[in-house]
Amino acid sequence: MKIISDMDLENKKVLIRCDFNVPIKDGKIIDDNRIVMSLKTIRYALDKGAKVILFSHLGRVKEEGDLEKNNLEPVAKRLSELLKKDVIFIPETRGEKLESAVDNLKSGDVLLVQNTRYEDLDGKKESGNDPELGRYWASLGDVFINDAFGTAHRSHASNVGIAKHLPSAAGFLIEKEIDALSSVKSPDKPFIVILGGSKVSDKIGVIKNLVKKADKILIGGGMAFTFLQAEGYDVGSSIIDKDNIDFCKDILNKYPNKIILPVDFKVTCEFVDTCEYKNKDISSFEYNEMGLDIGSDTSCLFKRYLEDAKTVLWNGPLGVYEFSNFRLGTEEVLKFLVDNNIKTILGGGDIVASAGVLGLKDKVYHASTGGGATLEYLEGKVLPGIDAIDKK
Ligand code: 3PG
Repeated sequence: MKIISDMDLENKKVLIRCDFNVPIKDGKIIDDNRIVMSLKTIRYALDKGAKVILFSHLGRVKEEGDLEKNNLEPVAKRLSELLKKDVIFIPETRGEKLESAVDNLKSGDVLLVQNTRYEDLDGKKESGNDPELGRYWASLGDVFINDAFGTAHRSHASNVGIAKHLPSAAGFLIEKEIDALSSVKSPDKPFIVILGGSKVSDKIGVIKNLVKKADKILIGGGMAFTFLQAEGYDVGSSIIDKDNIDFCKDILNKYPNKIILPVDFKVTCEFVDTCEYKNKDISSFEYNEMGLDIGSDTSCLFKRYLEDAKTVLWNGPLGVYEFSNFRLGTEEVLKFLVDNNIKTILGGGDIVASAGVLGLKDKVYHASTGGGATLEYLEGKVLPGIDAIDKK
């Protein structure tokens, strides 16, 4: 794959597709990780004397009411603080104002175009990869760099569409993501996969793709209850993904020694942070009890399996990490991996967010910026945003 350092950028108008799809509340950015992770590519282009034109989507735009809350202006402000330089923000996605601002750029200037999904309001032009829109955006530049790993599973005008018309390459973030995530294709062994989160349905593709490669798959989070029910346990009022009990039975039968399930949980009767809870063995749940985190014995059990691991891939937290009472399982296991310097790849929004809450995100080998893109990559699917660059 061609990367940005293979391209001549001097004095060129360089279009960079970033994924600035960050959580924003009341106009304030809650987590700027995706912006921070884009800086290396942007700074590199600026150092090489490029005129930098940035594109990104933010949220989903289906009706007029979605426009203001998905305005990219707060991102321009944050980016300007991080780069310590002005970022010209154009509140439109096409037209004279944008074109003349691009024409007036000097080497070393940065411009951010309004949310590409504003184009979805009138006939889904961005999300439907409208060929005219891709051609128009491409006409604004000389070179295209795709650094939006989080959007690589989408085939949209601002990634696949632009790439069709310009010399294109990947940015450093996409390069780093692919390097890290592809190491699970032929991992150093023992290779242990940790899966959590609430739904089995979200993880079926990953389980099918990785079950043969992994030495063990440790399962926690809400999804563990569907597996435990499939094994015949009474899991009280814990979350169950009814449609996938048969899938769990099948996989447990086919790979009897590979899937490791929790043996105890922190249980409570209400889905709230402040409730009282007990540590309970899986065979002693009352009908009204639900597990919201793995228990202390499970935490020890998982650590024993992880002791000799050479590569760990982790998708989905082991408990309800948003509740301070129910994040200890995730914290203990993650700390263990960090303290023992085990090569750990965190893939997917929630496990990366929980590592952030626990202050451990920067201590692991790799924390992916992708949500859906990471999952699809781990399922073994081709990502159109990357394929479009590979094919150049
Ligand atoms: C993400 O947050 O996963 C990416 O930015 C893609 O967003 P989307 O699911 O709205 O396409």
